[in-house]
Amino acid sequence: MTRPVRSYVLRQSRISPAQERALEELFPSYGLGFSQVPIDGKTVFGRSAPLVLEIGSGMGETTAAIAAAQPETDFIAVEVHGPGVGSLLRKIDALGLKNLRVIRHDAREVLEHMIADGTLAGIHLFFPDPWPKKRHHKRRLVQAAFAALAARKLAPGGYLHAATDWPEYAEQIEAVLRAERLLEPSRGRKARPATKFEQRGVKLGHEVRDLVFRRKM
Ligand SMILES: C[S@@+](CC[C@H](N)C(=O)[O-])C[C@H]1O[C@@H](n2cnc3c(N)ncnc32)[C@H](O)[C@@H]1O
Repeated sequence: MTRPVRSYVLRQSRISPAQERALEELFPSYGLGFSQVPIDGKTVFGRSAPLVLEIGSGMGETTAAIAAAQPETDFIAVEVHGPGVGSLLRKIDALGLKNLRVIRHDAREVLEHMIADGTLAGIHLFFPDPWPKKRHHKRRLVQAAFAALAARKLAPGGYLHAATDWPEYAEQIEAVLRAERLLEPSRGRKARPATKFEQRGVKLGHEVRDLVFRRKM
């Protein structure tokens, strides 16, 4: 059996005792385990509200800030990196956020299995790893198959908001999303708080591009 090409590499990274404790103690309250069955937003959040999925939430500062600023929307963050998941769980707890849950799993599989078609109000994809070397381009998340999967999961009018500080990846994202027949570029701009990864890039002089597409009505 061939192994799937992943968009991430799980490195042995240092996890702080607080993050490790959060994974043990807070995940049962604010985390969702991977499952092959689509999530029912009403069961998870106890209400019917628009649902936005974030792919690769990193340490989760922006994720928590957006959820706190939009209490009328429910958010699910997907991240594979243990310290990042621990850090976000601590923020959810500290801020008392009722509208944010975390899944520690490959976002592609989460989209495929845990999200019913035509149900997402939005998808956030902020600074996915650009995989700059040509031989690694196949690891990039945004390719035709991902665009088709993401578009299928969006409700009509739902948006996909991607941001990157890697110009050549921005071009690829734009080309791939333009080629997806269910999507069209959005005329409106979407504001968002700066992310941790973005701040690093900006300090290095990188130019940030935001791309917003919508599922056709
Ligand atoms: C460059 S970091 C950016 C993190 C955050 N969005 C920010 O801007 O600060 C990319 C993150 O995406 C996560 N990631 C990449 N591919 C993923 C996948 N298929 N499923 C879940 N997380 C993924 C990585 O673990 C990493 O934390």
